[in-house]
Amino acid sequence: MKGFVGSSNRLLSIKNITKVYRTKNQEIVANRNITFDVRKGEIFGILGPNGAGKTTLIKQIATLLLPDEGDILFKGKSILSHPDCFLGKFSFLMEGTRSMYEYLSAGVNLLYFAYLYKIPEKVARKRIDELMEMFGLTEFLEEYVMNYSTGMLKKLNIVRCLLTEPEVVFLDEPLSGLDVIASEEFINLIQSLVRKRNITFLIASHRMDFVEKITDRVIWLKDGEIVKMGETGKIKASVENFEYQVYLKKRRNTVRLLERMGLIYEVMKGGILRCNISLKQKEKLKELLDNEDVISVEKKERDFESVFKEVYG
Ligand SMILES: Nc1ncnc2c1ncn2[C@@H]1O[C@H](COP(=O)(O)OP(=O)(O)O)[C@@H](O)[C@H]1O
Ligand SMILES: [Mg+2]
Repeated sequence: MKGFVGSSNRLLSIKNITKVYRTKNQEIVANRNITFDVRKGEIFGILGPNGAGKTTLIKQIATLLLPDEGDILFKGKSILSHPDCFLGKFSFLMEGTRSMYEYLSAGVNLLYFAYLYKIPEKVARKRIDELMEMFGLTEFLEEYVMNYSTGMLKKLNIVRCLLTEPEVVFLDEPLSGLDVIASEEFINLIQSLVRKRNITFLIASHRMDFVEKITDRVIWLKDGEIVKMGETGKIKASVENFEYQVYLKKRRNTVRLLERMGLIYEVMKGGILRCNISLKQKEKLKELLDNEDVISVEKKERDFESVFKEVYG
C-alpha cells in the first residue's frame, strides 16, 4: 500500500519497513513491508490486537530498534543515516518501562531528566512549572513519585516527555492501567497538547474505543502487515455502517434455526435472544423475519469495535 499524504505535508515517512526477530529455531516477521506517512500536528494511531507488531513498529520509528529493511524519513531526511536530524525532537513513553525514581520527588526527577537532556536549570524550572500546572500536578511537585497514582504517574511521564519541547511524541499503549475517568482526562490532555503546541503524536494501542476517539488517522496491523489505513472517521464510514439486532423469544426451535443459519446470538434476561445481523447478511434477516418468535428488530450504528472484530475475526 502506498503512503497517502502530499509530500509538503509529510513529517515522517515510513518506507517499506520490515523487521524479523530471529531466535535459535524460528523467525518471526513482526513487521512486513510497512509504508505510511505522518503529518505534522496529527494524532496518528497504530492499531491492532496483541502480537500484531505495533510495539515493534513504533520502536523503530522512535529509533529504539533498527529495521532490517526500509527507511524512516523525518522531514525528508533518513533518521538511519542522519541521526542528528531528529536529535531532541523525538520523545517517547514505552509501555511498562520504569522511568521515574520512586524515592525522589516528582520535581527532583524532572530536574534530573532536564539535566540529562542538557536543559539549563533556569529554563528547566520554568518548563516544569508550566507543564505541572497544565497537567494539574502543581500541588504534587514535592511529592515522592512512589505516592503517585497510576494516572498521575502517566501524566508525570508525559511531562517528562515534553521537557525537551519535542516535535513528535511516541506513546505505546498509553492507557494501560488507567480507569475510565483517567483515560478521558488523558485523551483531553493529548488533544489540548496538539492544539496548543502543534505536537505530533504517534500512538500504538489495542484499545479500539480510545483509538476511535483520539486519532485523526490510523493504520491497522494484522500479523505484521497493514490491513487498513486512512482517516479514522472514513474507515468507520467505509465499512457498512449498520447492523440489525433482532430480538426473539427463546424457544428450542428458534435456537435451532439461528444455529442452522450460522447466526450468532446472545441469551438475554427474560427468555429473550438477541441476534446481530450485518448488512451482508440481509438475506438471512428476511428469512428470520418470517419467524413468529421475532419480537422486534432494531437498526444499530456500528462502532469501531465491531469493525475491528470483523477485520480480526
Ligand atoms: N524481542 C523479541 N524477540 C522475539 N520476538 C519478539 C520480540 N518482540 C516481539 N516479538 C514478537 O513479534 C511479534 C509482534 O510483537 P509486538 O511488536 O510486541 O506486537 P504488539 O505490540 O502489537 O502486541 C509477536 O509475535 C511477538 O511475539
Ligand atoms: Mg505492544
